[in-house]
Amino acid sequence: MKRWMFAVMAAVMFAGAFAAAGEVIGVAMPTQSEERWVLDLQTMVSEGRKLGLDVRTQIARNDQMQQNNQIDQLVAQGCRVIIIAPHDGDSAAAAVNKARQDGVKIIAYDRLITNCEYEAFAGFNSVQIGNLQGKWLTERAPKGNYICLSGAPTDFNSQIYHDGAMEYIRPLVDKGDITIVVDQPVIDWQPVNAQRIVENALTKANNDVVAVLAPNDGTAGGAIAALEAQGLAGKVFVSGQDAEVSAIQRIVRGVQGMTVLVDTRELGKAAVTMAQRMLRNEPIDDLTKGHVEYNGVMDIPAVLLDTASVDITNYGELLFDSGYMKREDVFGD
Ligand code: BGC
Repeated sequence: MKRWMFAVMAAVMFAGAFAAAGEVIGVAMPTQSEERWVLDLQTMVSEGRKLGLDVRTQIARNDQMQQNNQIDQLVAQGCRVIIIAPHDGDSAAAAVNKARQDGVKIIAYDRLITNCEYEAFAGFNSVQIGNLQGKWLTERAPKGNYICLSGAPTDFNSQIYHDGAMEYIRPLVDKGDITIVVDQPVIDWQPVNAQRIVENALTKANNDVVAVLAPNDGTAGGAIAALEAQGLAGKVFVSGQDAEVSAIQRIVRGVQGMTVLVDTRELGKAAVTMAQRMLRNEPIDDLTKGHVEYNGVMDIPAVLLDTASVDITNYGELLFDSGYMKREDVFGD
C-alpha cells in the first residue's frame, strides 16, 4: 500500500473518531428504489462528512411503521438532529413528537410532515414543479383528452404538484378545449400502478389522448409502458420529475416530453448545513429565508429551492454541463 493511501485512511479514521465524539445526525429516507433518493442520501452522507458530522442513516421500504421505528433507533444512537423524508407525512408525526420529547431537533426533507411541531423544512418549490409540468404540456397540447395522474396520497407534495399543474390545465378545461378522461392518484408512486391507470384510461378514451400528466419520472415510465403497448409512445406528451437517467434516455428517444430537475446536491447540502447549525444551537434564519404555511399546527421555517424544466432542447446544458449526470450514463460509452 502506498504511503499516501495510509495518510488518507488515517485522515478518514481521524475524522470518523472526531465526529463520533461529537456531532451525530440521523437521516431517515423513505426508500432507495428511486434514483433521486439514492442521490439525496449520497449527498447528505458526503456533505455531512465534509462538515465533520457523524451521519447515521436509515431506509424504510415505503412503510411508515418501519420508518417510525427507525427514527426511534436514530434517537437511541445519539442523533441530536434528524433529517426525515417521510413516507407518510401524517403518520410520521408520532415519531417526531417522541424524538422531540427527548430534545432531538427535526428537519422534514422534501416532503412535509404534518400536524406536529418541528424545527425546519428543506425542500423544493413544489408549486413551481407542478407549474412547469402543466405549462410544458398545455403549450404543446392545448386541446384534447388528458390523463392526469397524481402522486401517492400519503405524500404532502402530491396535491401541490397536481394543483400547480392544474393552474395551467384547468382554464383550458373550463374553456372546453381539454377534457380530463381520468384523474387518479398513484398509490405509493409505483410505476406499475401508474401503468394500470393509464391502460384503463386509454381503453376508456379509445386511445384518443394527447397528454399524460405524470408527476414524476417513475410514474412517467409506467405511463409510457402503457402507451407503448398501444403504439402511442412518442405521439402523446408526457411530463415527469427528478431527471432520472432513464427519463433522460426516454426524452432522447422522444417518448417522454419533459422532466423537472430537482437538484438533490443542493438540497442535501442545505439540509446538513442546517442540521449542523441546529446541533450548535446557532440560528438558521439566514438559510431558511421563507416558510411553509401552516402544516396543521404551525408555519415551518423553510429552505425552498428552485427547480428547472428539462426537455430535448436543454438537457445537455442542465444535466451534463452542470455535472449532475454524465453523458455516458445516458448514452453508454
Ligand atoms: C418527491 C419526488 C419523487 C416522489 C416519489 C416526491 O415526494 O418530491 O421527487 O419522485 O416523491 O418518490
